[in-house]
Amino acid sequence: MTMTDTFGRRIDNLRISVTDRCNFRCRYCMPPEGIRWVPHKEVLRFEEITTVARNFLALGGRKIRLTGGEPLLRSEIEILVRQLAALPGLEDLSLTTNGALLAGKAHALWDAGLRRINISLDTLNPLRFQWVCLRDALREVWAGFEAACAVGFGIKLNSVVLAGVTEAEVCELIDLAVERGIEVRFIEFMPLCGSGWSPDLWFSMDTVRNWLMARWRLLPLERGSAPAQSYAIEGTRARVGFIESLSKPFCGDCARVRLTATGKLRLCLFSPLEYDLRPYLYDDAALQSRLQEAIVHKPAGHAAHTVAEWQGETMPRIQVIGG
Ligand code: 5AD
Ligand code: SF4
Repeated sequence: MTMTDTFGRRIDNLRISVTDRCNFRCRYCMPPEGIRWVPHKEVLRFEEITTVARNFLALGGRKIRLTGGEPLLRSEIEILVRQLAALPGLEDLSLTTNGALLAGKAHALWDAGLRRINISLDTLNPLRFQWVCLRDALREVWAGFEAACAVGFGIKLNSVVLAGVTEAEVCELIDLAVERGIEVRFIEFMPLCGSGWSPDLWFSMDTVRNWLMARWRLLPLERGSAPAQSYAIEGTRARVGFIESLSKPFCGDCARVRLTATGKLRLCLFSPLEYDLRPYLYDDAALQSRLQEAIVHKPAGHAAHTVAEWQGETMPRIQVIGG
Protein backbone atom coordinates (compact mmCIF):
# COMPACT_ATOMS: atom_id res chain seq x y z
CA MET A 1 0.00 0.00 0.00
CA THR A 2 1.32 3.45 -0.86
CA MET A 3 -0.14 6.96 -0.76
CA THR A 4 0.50 8.96 -3.88
CA ASP A 5 -0.67 12.49 -4.59
CA THR A 6 -1.84 13.93 -7.91
CA PHE A 7 1.75 14.89 -8.80
CA GLY A 8 2.98 11.33 -8.35
CA ARG A 9 4.75 12.04 -5.10
CA ARG A 10 4.77 9.16 -2.65
CA ILE A 11 3.67 10.50 0.74
CA ASP A 12 5.40 8.50 3.46
CA ASN A 13 6.49 11.09 5.98
CA LEU A 14 4.35 12.44 8.82
CA ARG A 15 5.41 15.35 11.02
CA ILE A 16 3.43 15.38 14.21
CA SER A 17 3.13 18.55 16.23
CA VAL A 18 2.52 17.36 19.79
CA THR A 19 1.99 20.86 21.18
CA ASP A 20 1.74 24.39 19.85
CA ARG A 21 3.49 25.72 22.97
CA CYS A 22 7.08 26.80 23.10
CA ASN A 23 9.46 28.06 25.76
CA PHE A 24 11.40 30.13 23.18
CA ARG A 25 10.26 32.97 20.94
CA CYS A 26 12.63 32.64 18.00
CA ARG A 27 12.26 35.67 15.79
CA TYR A 28 11.82 33.63 12.65
CA CYS A 29 9.02 31.58 14.19
CA MET A 30 6.85 33.47 16.67
CA PRO A 31 5.99 37.01 17.65
CA PRO A 32 7.80 38.11 20.85
CA GLU A 33 4.58 38.16 22.88
CA GLY A 34 3.94 34.54 21.86
CA ILE A 35 0.78 33.23 20.25
CA ARG A 36 -2.48 32.38 21.91
CA TRP A 37 -1.99 28.75 22.99
CA VAL A 38 -4.60 26.18 22.10
CA PRO A 39 -6.58 25.07 25.20
CA HIS A 40 -5.40 21.70 26.55
CA LYS A 41 -8.71 19.99 25.88
CA GLU A 42 -8.38 20.66 22.15
CA VAL A 43 -4.96 19.04 21.91
CA LEU A 44 -4.89 15.43 20.74
CA ARG A 45 -4.24 12.83 23.44
CA PHE A 46 -1.35 10.39 22.96
CA GLU A 47 -3.75 7.57 22.01
CA GLU A 48 -5.31 9.78 19.33
CA ILE A 49 -1.91 10.73 17.91
CA THR A 50 -0.93 7.07 17.86
CA THR A 51 -4.16 6.24 16.03
CA VAL A 52 -3.35 8.72 13.27
CA ALA A 53 0.21 7.44 13.07
CA ARG A 54 -0.86 3.79 12.96
CA ASN A 55 -3.29 4.44 10.11
CA PHE A 56 -0.76 6.58 8.25
CA LEU A 57 1.70 3.67 8.43
CA ALA A 58 -1.00 1.20 7.39
CA LEU A 59 -1.44 3.26 4.21
CA GLY A 60 2.27 3.03 3.40
CA GLY A 61 3.77 5.73 5.61
CA ARG A 62 7.30 5.00 6.80
CA LYS A 63 8.68 7.97 8.69
CA ILE A 64 7.48 9.98 11.66
CA ARG A 65 8.98 13.08 13.22
CA LEU A 66 7.77 14.67 16.44
CA THR A 67 7.80 18.46 16.52
CA GLY A 68 6.06 21.35 18.24
CA GLY A 69 6.10 24.14 19.30
CA GLU A 70 8.60 22.47 21.53
CA PRO A 71 7.78 18.76 21.80
CA LEU A 72 9.61 18.27 25.10
CA LEU A 73 7.11 20.64 26.76
CA ARG A 74 4.50 17.92 26.34
CA SER A 75 4.64 16.08 29.64
CA GLU A 76 5.73 12.45 29.50
CA ILE A 77 6.43 12.68 25.78
CA GLU A 78 8.47 9.48 26.20
CA ILE A 79 5.18 7.58 26.64
CA LEU A 80 4.12 8.69 23.15
CA VAL A 81 7.55 7.84 21.78
CA ARG A 82 7.23 4.32 23.17
CA GLN A 83 3.77 3.89 21.61
CA LEU A 84 4.96 5.13 18.23
CA ALA A 85 8.21 3.16 18.24
CA ALA A 86 6.20 -0.07 18.56
CA LEU A 87 4.00 0.59 15.50
CA PRO A 88 4.35 -1.85 12.59
CA GLY A 89 5.75 -0.36 9.40
CA LEU A 90 7.65 2.46 11.09
CA GLU A 91 11.14 2.72 9.59
CA ASP A 92 12.28 5.98 11.07
CA LEU A 93 11.26 7.91 14.18
CA SER A 94 12.85 11.24 15.04
CA LEU A 95 12.25 14.37 17.08
CA THR A 96 13.05 18.03 16.52
CA THR A 97 13.71 20.05 19.67
CA ASN A 98 15.14 23.39 20.73
CA GLY A 99 17.22 21.39 23.21
CA ALA A 100 16.49 23.43 26.34
CA LEU A 101 14.80 20.53 28.17
CA LEU A 102 16.77 17.77 26.49
CA ALA A 103 19.35 17.14 29.24
CA GLY A 104 16.58 15.96 31.57
CA LYS A 105 14.85 13.86 28.89
CA ALA A 106 17.61 12.27 26.82
CA HIS A 107 17.78 8.97 28.74
CA ALA A 108 14.00 8.51 28.93
CA LEU A 109 13.68 9.18 25.18
CA TRP A 110 16.38 6.66 24.34
CA ASP A 111 14.79 4.06 26.63
CA ALA A 112 11.46 4.64 24.88
CA GLY A 113 13.03 3.77 21.54
CA LEU A 114 14.03 7.12 20.01
CA ARG A 115 17.38 7.08 18.19
CA ARG A 116 17.50 10.33 16.18
CA ILE A 117 17.21 13.93 17.35
CA ASN A 118 17.47 17.23 15.52
CA ILE A 119 18.49 20.11 17.74
CA SER A 120 17.95 23.71 16.67
CA LEU A 121 21.15 25.64 17.28
CA ASP A 122 21.63 28.81 15.28
CA THR A 123 24.55 30.29 17.17
CA LEU A 124 27.20 29.37 19.72
CA ASN A 125 27.31 32.91 21.08
CA PRO A 126 25.11 33.53 24.16
CA LEU A 127 24.25 37.12 23.24
CA ARG A 128 23.33 36.30 19.68
CA PHE A 129 21.38 33.33 20.97
CA GLN A 130 19.35 35.64 23.15
CA TRP A 131 18.76 37.99 20.23
CA VAL A 132 17.53 35.20 17.98
CA CYS A 133 15.51 33.11 20.46
CA LEU A 134 14.58 35.85 22.94
CA ARG A 135 15.73 33.56 25.75
CA ASP A 136 19.03 33.39 27.59
CA ALA A 137 19.16 29.63 27.21
CA LEU A 138 22.31 28.67 25.30
CA ARG A 139 23.70 26.97 28.42
CA GLU A 140 20.65 24.70 28.72
CA VAL A 141 20.66 23.90 25.00
CA TRP A 142 24.35 23.07 25.16
CA ALA A 143 23.72 20.77 28.13
CA GLY A 144 20.96 19.10 26.10
CA PHE A 145 23.28 18.64 23.15
CA GLU A 146 26.01 17.13 25.35
CA ALA A 147 23.51 14.81 27.02
CA ALA A 148 22.19 13.62 23.65
CA CYS A 149 25.76 12.99 22.43
CA ALA A 150 26.57 11.05 25.61
CA VAL A 151 23.48 8.86 25.29
CA GLY A 152 24.44 8.03 21.71
CA PHE A 153 21.65 9.60 19.62
CA GLY A 154 22.11 10.26 15.94
CA ILE A 155 22.17 14.06 16.04
CA LYS A 156 21.64 16.76 13.44
CA LEU A 157 21.95 20.42 14.27
CA ASN A 158 19.49 22.75 12.52
CA SER A 159 20.82 26.23 12.05
CA VAL A 160 18.85 29.07 10.48
CA VAL A 161 21.33 31.44 8.84
CA LEU A 162 20.33 35.07 9.42
CA ALA A 163 22.06 37.82 7.50
CA GLY A 164 24.26 39.95 9.73
CA VAL A 165 23.48 37.83 12.81
CA THR A 166 24.49 34.18 12.54
CA GLU A 167 26.03 34.16 9.06
CA ALA A 168 29.48 34.66 10.54
CA GLU A 169 29.22 31.44 12.55
CA VAL A 170 28.86 28.86 9.84
CA CYS A 171 32.52 27.82 10.02
CA GLU A 172 32.40 27.46 13.80
CA LEU A 173 29.31 25.28 13.50
CA ILE A 174 31.11 23.14 10.92
CA ASP A 175 34.09 22.83 13.29
CA LEU A 176 31.67 21.57 15.94
CA ALA A 177 30.14 19.06 13.50
CA VAL A 178 33.64 17.83 12.54
CA GLU A 179 34.69 17.51 16.18
CA ARG A 180 31.58 15.47 17.04
CA GLY A 181 31.16 13.61 13.75
CA ILE A 182 27.59 14.85 13.24
CA GLU A 183 25.59 16.72 10.60
CA VAL A 184 24.84 20.42 10.68
CA ARG A 185 22.11 21.67 8.39
CA PHE A 186 21.95 25.29 7.39
CA ILE A 187 18.44 26.59 6.76
CA GLU A 188 17.23 29.56 4.76
CA PHE A 189 14.85 31.86 6.60
CA MET A 190 11.35 31.06 5.33
CA PRO A 191 8.59 33.65 5.05
CA LEU A 192 6.01 31.80 7.13
CA CYS A 193 2.90 33.16 8.79
CA GLY A 194 3.79 34.99 12.01
CA SER A 195 7.48 34.39 11.39
CA GLY A 196 8.79 37.94 11.81
CA TRP A 197 9.78 37.66 8.16
CA SER A 198 12.14 40.33 7.01
CA PRO A 199 13.88 40.17 3.66
CA ASP A 200 16.86 41.91 5.31
CA LEU A 201 17.51 38.84 7.46
CA TRP A 202 17.46 36.42 4.55
CA PHE A 203 20.80 34.88 3.65
CA SER A 204 21.56 32.72 0.63
CA MET A 205 22.72 29.14 1.07
CA ASP A 206 24.69 29.41 -2.16
CA THR A 207 26.95 31.89 -0.43
CA VAL A 208 27.35 29.63 2.60
CA ARG A 209 28.14 26.68 0.34
CA ASN A 210 30.73 28.68 -1.55
CA TRP A 211 32.42 29.75 1.68
CA LEU A 212 32.58 26.17 2.91
CA MET A 213 33.84 24.85 -0.41
CA ALA A 214 36.79 27.20 -0.18
CA ARG A 215 37.91 25.31 2.92
CA TRP A 216 36.52 21.76 2.66
CA ARG A 217 35.81 19.29 -0.11
CA LEU A 218 32.09 18.52 -0.03
CA LEU A 219 30.93 15.21 -1.49
CA PRO A 220 27.22 15.26 -2.40
CA LEU A 221 25.07 12.51 -0.86
CA GLU A 222 21.95 11.03 -2.33
CA ARG A 223 18.98 13.16 -1.40
CA GLY A 224 15.76 11.17 -1.84
CA SER A 225 12.84 13.19 -0.48
CA ALA A 226 14.91 14.95 2.19
CA PRO A 227 14.54 18.73 2.37
CA ALA A 228 18.29 19.08 2.76
CA GLN A 229 20.92 18.48 0.12
CA SER A 230 23.62 16.94 2.28
CA TYR A 231 27.34 16.49 1.69
CA ALA A 232 30.00 14.42 3.38
CA ILE A 233 32.90 16.61 4.44
CA GLU A 234 35.93 14.85 3.04
CA GLY A 235 38.40 13.56 5.59
CA THR A 236 35.92 13.85 8.48
CA ARG A 237 32.91 11.96 9.85
CA ALA A 238 30.83 15.13 9.63
CA ARG A 239 28.19 16.15 7.14
CA VAL A 240 26.74 19.44 6.11
CA GLY A 241 23.28 19.96 4.64
CA PHE A 242 21.54 22.93 3.06
CA ILE A 243 17.81 23.52 3.25
CA GLU A 244 17.10 26.04 0.52
CA SER A 245 13.35 26.34 0.85
CA LEU A 246 13.11 29.60 -0.99
CA SER A 247 15.98 29.71 -3.47
CA LYS A 248 15.81 26.03 -4.53
CA PRO A 249 12.42 24.68 -3.49
CA PHE A 250 12.28 20.91 -3.08
CA CYS A 251 8.48 20.73 -3.45
CA GLY A 252 8.75 18.32 -6.39
CA ASP A 253 10.17 15.61 -4.12
CA CYS A 254 8.17 16.44 -1.00
CA ALA A 255 6.96 13.30 0.78
CA ARG A 256 5.56 15.04 3.83
CA VAL A 257 2.30 15.93 5.50
CA ARG A 258 1.79 17.41 8.94
CA LEU A 259 -0.53 16.70 11.83
CA THR A 260 -1.30 19.73 13.98
CA ALA A 261 -1.58 19.53 17.76
CA THR A 262 -5.38 19.76 17.43
CA GLY A 263 -5.72 16.95 14.90
CA LYS A 264 -5.73 18.67 11.54
CA LEU A 265 -3.78 17.46 8.55
CA ARG A 266 -1.73 20.10 6.73
CA LEU A 267 -0.45 19.20 3.31
CA CYS A 268 2.15 21.93 2.89
CA LEU A 269 3.83 24.50 5.13
CA PHE A 270 2.90 27.16 2.62
CA SER A 271 -0.75 26.13 2.22
CA PRO A 272 -3.44 27.44 4.56
CA LEU A 273 -5.72 24.43 4.11
CA GLU A 274 -6.23 22.08 7.05
CA TYR A 275 -8.19 18.83 6.97
CA ASP A 276 -9.81 17.99 10.29
CA LEU A 277 -9.13 14.36 11.25
CA ARG A 278 -10.81 14.50 14.65
CA PRO A 279 -14.24 13.25 13.55
CA TYR A 280 -12.60 10.12 12.10
CA LEU A 281 -10.36 9.07 14.97
CA TYR A 282 -12.56 6.27 16.23
CA ASP A 283 -13.03 4.44 12.93
CA ASP A 284 -9.84 3.20 11.23
CA ALA A 285 -11.45 2.67 7.81
CA ALA A 286 -12.98 6.17 7.82
CA LEU A 287 -9.71 7.71 9.00
CA GLN A 288 -7.76 5.97 6.24
CA SER A 289 -10.12 7.21 3.54
CA ARG A 290 -10.01 10.70 5.02
CA LEU A 291 -6.20 10.63 4.91
CA GLN A 292 -6.21 9.42 1.31
CA GLU A 293 -8.79 11.99 0.24
CA ALA A 294 -6.86 14.81 1.88
CA ILE A 295 -3.55 13.80 0.33
CA VAL A 296 -5.04 14.16 -3.13
CA HIS A 297 -5.21 17.91 -2.42
CA LYS A 298 -1.52 18.30 -1.65
CA PRO A 299 -0.47 21.35 -3.65
CA ALA A 300 2.41 21.28 -6.11
CA GLY A 301 4.35 23.64 -3.86
CA HIS A 302 5.12 27.29 -3.54
CA ALA A 303 5.98 29.41 -6.51
CA ALA A 304 8.14 32.20 -5.13
CA HIS A 305 11.83 31.54 -5.61
CA THR A 306 13.34 34.85 -4.63
CA VAL A 307 13.21 37.10 -1.64
CA ALA A 308 11.82 39.86 -3.87
CA GLU A 309 8.83 37.73 -4.80
CA TRP A 310 7.89 37.48 -1.13
CA GLN A 311 8.20 41.18 -0.38
CA GLY A 312 5.05 42.45 1.25
CA GLU A 313 3.33 39.13 0.88
CA THR A 314 1.60 37.60 3.87
CA MET A 315 0.30 34.07 4.22
CA PRO A 316 -3.47 33.69 3.89
CA ARG A 317 -5.42 32.77 7.03
CA ILE A 318 -5.75 29.09 7.89
CA GLN A 319 -8.92 27.54 6.53
CA VAL A 320 -10.19 24.29 8.04
CA ILE A 321 -11.84 21.76 5.74
CA GLY A 322 -14.39 20.36 8.17
CA GLY A 323 -15.30 16.90 9.34
N1 5AD B 1 12.51 29.86 8.58
C1 5AD B 1 13.42 28.85 8.64
N2 5AD B 1 13.47 27.94 9.61
C2 5AD B 1 12.57 28.03 10.58
N3 5AD B 1 12.36 27.26 11.67
C3 5AD B 1 11.29 27.75 12.33
N4 5AD B 1 10.79 28.83 11.69
C4 5AD B 1 11.56 29.03 10.59
C5 5AD B 1 11.56 29.98 9.53
N5 5AD B 1 10.65 30.96 9.45
C6 5AD B 1 13.19 26.10 12.01
C7 5AD B 1 13.88 26.16 13.34
C8 5AD B 1 13.95 24.76 13.78
C9 5AD B 1 12.90 24.05 13.01
C10 5AD B 1 11.85 23.49 13.92
O1 5AD B 1 12.34 24.97 12.12
O2 5AD B 1 15.16 26.62 13.28
O3 5AD B 1 15.17 24.18 13.50
FE1 SF4 C 1 10.09 27.48 19.65
FE2 SF4 C 1 11.29 26.17 17.67
FE3 SF4 C 1 9.69 28.24 17.12
FE4 SF4 C 1 12.04 28.63 18.31
S1 SF4 C 1 11.71 27.80 16.24
S2 SF4 C 1 10.08 29.57 18.91
S3 SF4 C 1 12.24 26.88 19.59
S4 SF4 C 1 9.07 26.32 17.99
